[in-house]
Amino acid sequence: MRIIIGKDYDDMSRKAANIISAMVILKPDAVLGLATGTSPLGLYKQLIKWYEKKDIDFSAVRSVNLDEYVGLSKTHVQSYFHFMHEMFFNHINIALENCHLPNGMASDIDAECRRYDTLISSLGGIDLQLLGIGQNGHIGFNEPEENFEQMTHLAHLTQSTITANSRLFDDISDVPTTALSMGIKAIMQAKMIVLVASGKNKAQIIKQSFFGAVTPKVPASILQMHNNVILVVDEDAAGDLR
Ligand code: F6R
Repeated sequence: MRIIIGKDYDDMSRKAANIISAMVILKPDAVLGLATGTSPLGLYKQLIKWYEKKDIDFSAVRSVNLDEYVGLSKTHVQSYFHFMHEMFFNHINIALENCHLPNGMASDIDAECRRYDTLISSLGGIDLQLLGIGQNGHIGFNEPEENFEQMTHLAHLTQSTITANSRLFDDISDVPTTALSMGIKAIMQAKMIVLVASGKNKAQIIKQSFFGAVTPKVPASILQMHNNVILVVDEDAAGDLR
């Protein structure tokens, strides 16, 4: 594992964006596994800037997102489909038909999960998977105590994740309680993983995940077993590592 420490959120975002940019330059049709949330927002903004300066070309890139809430339509402002289009896809030259997310409105959830796994394999697997991390160590919506063997599946959000995500909804009762998520097994099959985290509230879980026991109680701890992980954090999130 490599650890890259940025001064602050912007510096962390630039460093992570550089890694993604290098991937796209080296492999113009790379399959990028993408995440939503606050952590990757800055790096998406940076990539958009470099695209506008004609430094990066996304025209052949394919993308697969980690997760999507169950029951939110694509037009719902809190759906991950909406987030990705608003925050990234609509501002670069990626072909929208090459941008994939699980469909949280599918009537047959099991079939949708299998479709998503088959799609990822048919693209040749994920070249670079971007991850954030929850304060309880979740990656995607793989919550503590789920097993490490799952591919895409229906995930039940824990109360702490519902509470954390409620900041983006009018009321906590509006936060969906289930989501479709790539499983740990699917994430571990990515050829490279870049996990971004910032802020003091992530310091403890970063230490526990990368320097503690590998256990389903801390889902991100499994990343210690991956042979190509880059942790990009700001000084606050790295605070407990020294
Ligand atoms: C988002 C996702 C989640 C977030 C995590 C951290 O697609 O899968 O695991 O990465 O909840 O969220 P932020 O970055 O908002 O702290």
